[in-house]
Amino acid sequence: MLGASLAPPTRSLAEFTLSEANGLSMTVPRHFSTMPEKDQLRAVVSKHRSLTGRVALVTGSTRGIGAGIARAFAEHGVRVVVHGLPRHAAEGKRLVAAIRAGGGEARLVTGDLAREAFCRRLVARTLEYFGRLDILVNNAGIFPRGDILNTSVELWDRIFAVNLRAPFILAQEAVKHMKRRRSGSIINIGSVNAYIGLRRLVAYAASKGGLMTFSRNLANSLSRYRIRVNLINPGWVFTEGEDHMESVEEGQGKKWVKEVLKTRPFGRMLAPADIARAALFFARNELVSGAVLDYEQMPVGTLREP
Ligand SMILES: NC(=O)c1ccc[n+]([C@@H]2O[C@H](COP(=O)([O-])OP(=O)(O)OC[C@H]3O[C@@H](n4cnc5c(N)ncnc54)[C@H](OP(=O)(O)O)[C@@H]3O)[C@@H](O)[C@H]2O)c1
Repeated sequence: MLGASLAPPTRSLAEFTLSEANGLSMTVPRHFSTMPEKDQLRAVVSKHRSLTGRVALVTGSTRGIGAGIARAFAEHGVRVVVHGLPRHAAEGKRLVAAIRAGGGEARLVTGDLAREAFCRRLVARTLEYFGRLDILVNNAGIFPRGDILNTSVELWDRIFAVNLRAPFILAQEAVKHMKRRRSGSIINIGSVNAYIGLRRLVAYAASKGGLMTFSRNLANSLSRYRIRVNLINPGWVFTEGEDHMESVEEGQGKKWVKEVLKTRPFGRMLAPADIARAALFFARNELVSGAVLDYEQMPVGTLREP
């Protein structure tokens, strides 16, 4: 029996929960001790893991992976700040309207994460709107191409400002608040390029490698405040940004997807909803911090066989 594996048989699950599950005791329903054990367990677990009423800030969520995460969070009762550059405000407004139409709560804030002041203001606006911040998802990222010879210092700096410096500044602001609450979840969206990366993504790969180390460093220093920090390294995901990069900027037209599919063992590219499910896992109160999840269809670093 599930309850028996959690507590010695001489004690009820209610006793176990109240005495040993720390903060959970506050959430135990009044009629708890009269419930059958299996229902007691369900009540505790669902209360503990429920995301209803929590507040998330998801950067770069007007489209792509970020929009998928914002939508999934809203479906689970999370109040969401949708963010993106002003040029995609229309998409952001549509997403906010869709969330509200579905009975959820969302606000849109636009601005450039390459600007320190805006990063700090973004967290402040989230707190003004919703009064708390439980989940910070550092998703926004740019992936302009460039190898060791043709990457300018300006491009390197721009990529690092958005992909690594902004998550640092946002985390700094978020942690001030989360530390007081002794609770919080920071989820960083990296890339499988973090390990080595493509030749023509030298600055991008380095920025995502930095983000991976930053995540684990933060996880270590913030566990004392019960703030969890985890990172998802997506593989190839079909998004608006990736489609534009491959078909327009790389000049491949629409055939690029067909070529990619030949290399995908499960016959499709990843979708934002796949990454969103992983983000939901880390957003819930699972006791996982410092994890790096490679969300890819094969082990990263797999050698191509002849
Ligand atoms: N797609 C993939 O295959 C893949 C694989 C691995 C990792 N990733 C990572 O996943 C994340 C999302 O990628 P995606 O494919 O969903 O990209 P996307 O479709 O281009 O979406 C990126 C979002 O970030 C925003 N953004 C970019 N630069 C910004 C800035 N300076 N200030 C504020 N917002 C900014 C974008 O706004 P605009 O649309 O206005 O530019 C957009 O809302 C990125 O960190 C990326 O590196 C993607």
